[in-house]
Amino acid sequence: MDTKELVKAALEARENSYSPYSGFAVGAALLTKSGSIYQGANIENAGHSGTVCAERTAIFKAVSEGERAFSAMAVAGGKAGALPEFFCSPCGVCRQVMAEFCDGDFIIYFAKSENEIQEHTLRALFPHPFGPKDL
Ligand code: THU
Repeated sequence: MDTKELVKAALEARENSYSPYSGFAVGAALLTKSGSIYQGANIENAGHSGTVCAERTAIFKAVSEGERAFSAMAVAGGKAGALPEFFCSPCGVCRQVMAEFCDGDFIIYFAKSENEIQEHTLRALFPHPFGPKDL
């Protein structure tokens, strides 16, 4: 899988962001170990706690379809209607959800465009997880 293809899917997913309150559109594209891509966008809610991030939308879509093995995710977020101005980084809750299904080698690409990409491991972003092995 080409990294640019995954990033392109994250940028495309931003188009379906429902973010009337923040005006901040985030897209995510999750790559399964079998090579499928699940896209997700942030979905906000008038009762703010109902809001879900793009990363969790993508993970929950995949898990609810029976997928359990993931290798990478691309994330792109910024003001709706424009390319991201900075590298959007997953929130703490999303990192915790990633740690439920992914090991430390899981790769997270932060993208501003198809040509501006940062690469991080989940281990680096979330070094001491409380995970399934701790229960
Ligand atoms: N958001 C995401 O979807 N992913 C992130 O990585 C950061 C934040 C969303 C949540 C909310 O809809 C908006 O961006 C502003 O916080």
